[in-house]
Amino acid sequence: MKRILTVVGTRPNFIKVTRFREVASRYAGYELHIVHTGQHYDDKMADVFFRQFNLVPDHFLNTPQGSPASQIAFIITELEKLILKLKPDVMLVVGDVNSTMAAAIAANKCGVKLGHVESGLRSFDRTMPEEYNRIVADELSDLLFVTEQSGLDNLNAERKPKEAIHFVGNTMIDTMVAFAPQIESSDILEQLNAASKNYVLMTMHRPATVDDETGLKKLLELIKDVCAQYPLIFPVHPRTVATLKKFGLHDEFTAISNLTFVEPLDYFAFQKLVKHAKFILTDSGGIQEESTFLGVPCLTLRPNTERPSTVTIGSNELLPFDLQMIRARIADIVAGTYKKGGIPPLWDGKATERIFDVLSKTI
Ligand code: UD1
Repeated sequence: MKRILTVVGTRPNFIKVTRFREVASRYAGYELHIVHTGQHYDDKMADVFFRQFNLVPDHFLNTPQGSPASQIAFIITELEKLILKLKPDVMLVVGDVNSTMAAAIAANKCGVKLGHVESGLRSFDRTMPEEYNRIVADELSDLLFVTEQSGLDNLNAERKPKEAIHFVGNTMIDTMVAFAPQIESSDILEQLNAASKNYVLMTMHRPATVDDETGLKKLLELIKDVCAQYPLIFPVHPRTVATLKKFGLHDEFTAISNLTFVEPLDYFAFQKLVKHAKFILTDSGGIQEESTFLGVPCLTLRPNTERPSTVTIGSNELLPFDLQMIRARIADIVAGTYKKGGIPPLWDGKATERIFDVLSKTI
């Protein structure tokens, strides 16, 4: 019996492992254990995804809220106990969050073979905590599962062993493909009184965007500007709500007319909103990929991206937080002159199969 331990901890992690159990079950002699660290813990950020994907974690670490370092330390300690008990043949970590780094360190310290799903992505921006998480996970991994060309290029530039690198595609796209009927049946457009291609979808939660008052005031200005033209739907991350309240700006945001300020949405509802949006304004990583897959214009308000194929191939564009520049791009979208965008290679809904094919030959 080969035992695989997959560790997830946050909303974007859950979305990347939805097909692991089903695909693992096709291999005789495989036992897959899903561990949820509890980094994201409430119903709207975690439990609803497990329900929608029918993905019950086998183990829950119950990580207490706290600083990143205290959470990482807790996860390493608890995972070590689980590893000693289960003796996995391989551990799989996904993405770039603090739980990813913690699980990679635990695997390394316990001598367990490690695979990193979404390997090789680099923003080259060391002010992002995620950049360190990616680098550490890749450095400690024996199997590097890559989503896009830049991942291959970066791992080659870092002289990672060729035989460790596997270009498999993107498991987040697998989830969009596998759950397309459920996404389509969501009634979120009716619930929010939104008309297809006649609203803008926004997500903003990165520390660089929302953690200080100046950033939030710029965001307020941008939202007012967009709302003068289109209805704007903004599912708000708890981090953003917390900082809005901290700086006394929450009421000013919620009072903007044409703005629908909602709690974090479930996966099916959110994807339906992505698909039918006129365009998207975001600072997220994953949404750049989801919008590219659907060909929806996406303006990412960040100086860099770790997912450059969404810009070179897809419908994503990077912009600084500059109202004039953002207005100009929106004008292109409205005029129909914004680029159309294509889909990067191997974003075809079969990445999970490719990962397990590699595992079947290596463990
Ligand atoms: C984390 C990831 C980021 C990812 C994001 C997606 C790291 C370093 N960052 O950022 O890459 O894009 O998740 O959501 O891991 N909170 C809740 N409910 C929850 C979870 C969090 O209220 O279920 C609150 C926390 O108490 C905290 C804040 O939201 O105050 C931030 O949560 P945290 O897990 O630290 O990271 P994110 O900012 O969500």
